[in-house]
Amino acid sequence: EKNGYDHFMLKEIFEQPQTIFDSLRGRMDAHKNQITLSGIDAIADKIMAARRIIIVACGTSWHSALVAEYVIEELCRINVEVEYASEFRYRNPIISSEDVIIAISQSGETADTLVALENAKEQGATIYGLVNVVGSSIARISNAGSYTHAGPEIGVASTKAYTAQLAVLQLIALKIAKLKGTIDDQKFTYFIQQLDAVPEKVQWILDNQVEEIQRIAKKYSDANDVLYLGRGYNFPTALEGALKLKEISYIHAEGYPAAEMKHGPIALVDETLPVIFVATKDSYHEKIVSNIQEIKARKGKIIAIVSEGDNRVEELADDIMVVPSCDEIIAPLLAAIPLQLLAYYIGVERGLDVDQPRNLAKSVTVE
Ligand code: F6R
Repeated sequence: EKNGYDHFMLKEIFEQPQTIFDSLRGRMDAHKNQITLSGIDAIADKIMAARRIIIVACGTSWHSALVAEYVIEELCRINVEVEYASEFRYRNPIISSEDVIIAISQSGETADTLVALENAKEQGATIYGLVNVVGSSIARISNAGSYTHAGPEIGVASTKAYTAQLAVLQLIALKIAKLKGTIDDQKFTYFIQQLDAVPEKVQWILDNQVEEIQRIAKKYSDANDVLYLGRGYNFPTALEGALKLKEISYIHAEGYPAAEMKHGPIALVDETLPVIFVATKDSYHEKIVSNIQEIKARKGKIIAIVSEGDNRVEELADDIMVVPSCDEIIAPLLAAIPLQLLAYYIGVERGLDVDQPRNLAKSVTVE
């Protein structure tokens, strides 16, 4: 069932043009210029009246929540808070019927997320579930929701479920922005077109970057530590890249907002430290270029994810992974792909069981 791929993880990475298409299909009409999400319609009055949206998740799903925080606040002008389910459930949070909680979970069975939702529901909050596994516990406890439609994810490390979450979260943000009137028609159309182009852009990465990423993976496969840095919409991408590497290669990795490095992690930098910058063209670009220069001045090895045609970062970096240009809001969907591939090929290079990393389970049903 691996369809000729060596591992489920690789198969699932390569499925992403299709799974992203599937999570958008039937919900987004680029011609009619509309988004259909019956789950959002079902709780539209609650969303319109919401004081804030709280997103609750764990692990990789928590990273897609962070991206959503940036996107929803930008497009919908609603206050969004992102919570680790395990912390949220134990710290007696202030919740009321004016709160909408979005729960994100691939499995729909993560114990901490489930209990956090039960508590919030008891206190009157409205629960929206964004879940991959149909009929799972989190799907059932939710007042409304959407499925991600990524299909079964077998590899323990989440890949296609993550990008499906990102795709549907973009739709949710656009749909709410339209309801609230915080986006004009022209921008709405523009974002729909941007989303519509994502599957083919992901395919471009898979068709054009794999050999280079394999080469980079070989070059850095015996690193002891790797630092991942990003800003803005791609700050969560840095966290997710670091988590993938830890899980699959057992290399210590940390993700940070790029500007935070001078508050500590920069002390780690020497000629042996690979530093991965998520440096796609966005409104933070000048800032991240300065961060790259700061690492270079301290002789760190620079690996950068860059937008096609960005010669400036290419000149500064030791190695680059290229992604097609897109709007900055969409960029996390593309930038995730090279980082998944890098973690995968480093794990393979180190001879590890990438589908079943030690100590990990696909679904964490105990706290
Ligand atoms: C990472 C990974 C985990 C899960 C986390 C939440 O690759 O798979 O971090 O993301 O255990 O799981 P779900 O999304 O099923 O609630």
